[in-house]
Amino acid sequence: MIEAFDAEAFRSLGHQVVDALADHWKVAAAGDPPVQRWMEPEDAFAFWEERLKSGVDPRTLITTILERSFHVAHPRNLGHQVGPVLPAVAAIDLIGNLLDIGNGVYEVGQPATPMERVVLQRLASVLGLPQSADGVLTSGGSLGNLTALLAMRQARGGAWESGGHEYAVLVSEESHYCVDRAARIMGWGQEGVIRVPVDAAYRMSMPALRNALTRTRVSERHILGVVASAGSTATGQMDPLEDIANFCASEDLWLHVDAAHGGAFAFSQKARPLLRGIERADSVVVDFHKMLLCPSLVTAVLFRRAEHSYQSFAQEAGYLWRADDEHAWWDAAKRTLECTRPMLGLRAYALLALGGESLLETYIDRCRARTLRFAEMIEAAPDFELLIVPESNIICYRHVPDRNASPEEVDHLNQAIREHLVREGYFYIVQVEKAGRTYLRSAFMNPFTEEFDLAELLESLRRTGQTLKRNSTTSPS
Ligand SMILES: Cc1ncc(COP(=O)(O)O)c(C=O)c1O
Repeated sequence: MIEAFDAEAFRSLGHQVVDALADHWKVAAAGDPPVQRWMEPEDAFAFWEERLKSGVDPRTLITTILERSFHVAHPRNLGHQVGPVLPAVAAIDLIGNLLDIGNGVYEVGQPATPMERVVLQRLASVLGLPQSADGVLTSGGSLGNLTALLAMRQARGGAWESGGHEYAVLVSEESHYCVDRAARIMGWGQEGVIRVPVDAAYRMSMPALRNALTRTRVSERHILGVVASAGSTATGQMDPLEDIANFCASEDLWLHVDAAHGGAFAFSQKARPLLRGIERADSVVVDFHKMLLCPSLVTAVLFRRAEHSYQSFAQEAGYLWRADDEHAWWDAAKRTLECTRPMLGLRAYALLALGGESLLETYIDRCRARTLRFAEMIEAAPDFELLIVPESNIICYRHVPDRNASPEEVDHLNQAIREHLVREGYFYIVQVEKAGRTYLRSAFMNPFTEEFDLAELLESLRRTGQTLKRNSTTSPS
């Protein structure tokens, strides 16, 4: 059994893995294979079950995983908000995978915990938060938002002991579903999230926000704060943070900004103005695994006032930390849902140390520039429609080859085209329902995407639409 832990065996397999990954990365980032080789879920399950039964050697396992994987770094992956990992960060992350020190408490927290604090303080400063800001890294934006909302509840309602179900937050109707989920986890039910309509640009509407507060104040619910999106998942649009900050200040409400996607824009001079007002937030969430080139998951949860970071989980755990070290930043598990954690600090620190902020700026500017260029191409194409001109790096559009078609026919056509494209594997895009209609959606996360990929995407959508139409008119009913 002990031989299974042999260092030389690790060295040998590790070299094979790194070599195979580097070769794979070269071709995937160059757009050589398809984005993915589609398999129906049951077929994929049978495939992997069979290999486990029949046995598989390490080399075959490596190559088969790579062949069968979705290639995030592929220039024609224009789907979800998952960006390519900076290879240098992935390489350093390997250290965390083998050392695997839980780092919930400082006794086993070196070096990830102090690294984590360095990164959090730098991020807080880039966002313009005061020096008093502090926070913690956690596993994902969903958990990050829950962590921040728990602190809001404790700071404003003091409900850690009593539970308190009578609370609510005001949230844009475009917010990510995890905010609603967090409210329900806290026992607030569906009344716990008061949905605020958006304006024509899909940003939280200020008149609607004022109305929502007035309406809710006459109910039983105690409004704790506002959750703003920067940017929102479907469209990437930024809520008017400055106006919302003024509103929260005048109404004495907590401002939480879900900047899981757009918080990264603070690293770009050009994109930074989109975040104006974020520096006034009480809490902010930023995902490093979206626009910050880190492997998932790693999310910063920042609090304007350091003490709020200790209020999400006001608990004692004598076997882990001392109750008298009330604000001991070095015992991270005090402030996260996780007890054992991956060495998240390594990833985020490696990004800043080996990638650097100027790389982030170039990356963000490039993704936004490509998105705007794609918007221009769509506007110039008579058979395509934009939902809105994008301000970040997410764009919603649809193919309308026949202006006499009913809205339902256009919806069905776009749904069918997308499904076909995903199965074919040469492009990956997603879809959303907006204004009651189906739109195709692309997040531009990929520095490898070029203008000719975009021209080819539009052509593919047209070609697929024509093929589907031909097949539907020739197939027997
Ligand atoms: C605005 C926003 N918030 C939160 C989340 C959830 O983040 P995670 O997937 O890291 O849990 C997402 C995910 O897409 C998002 O877009």
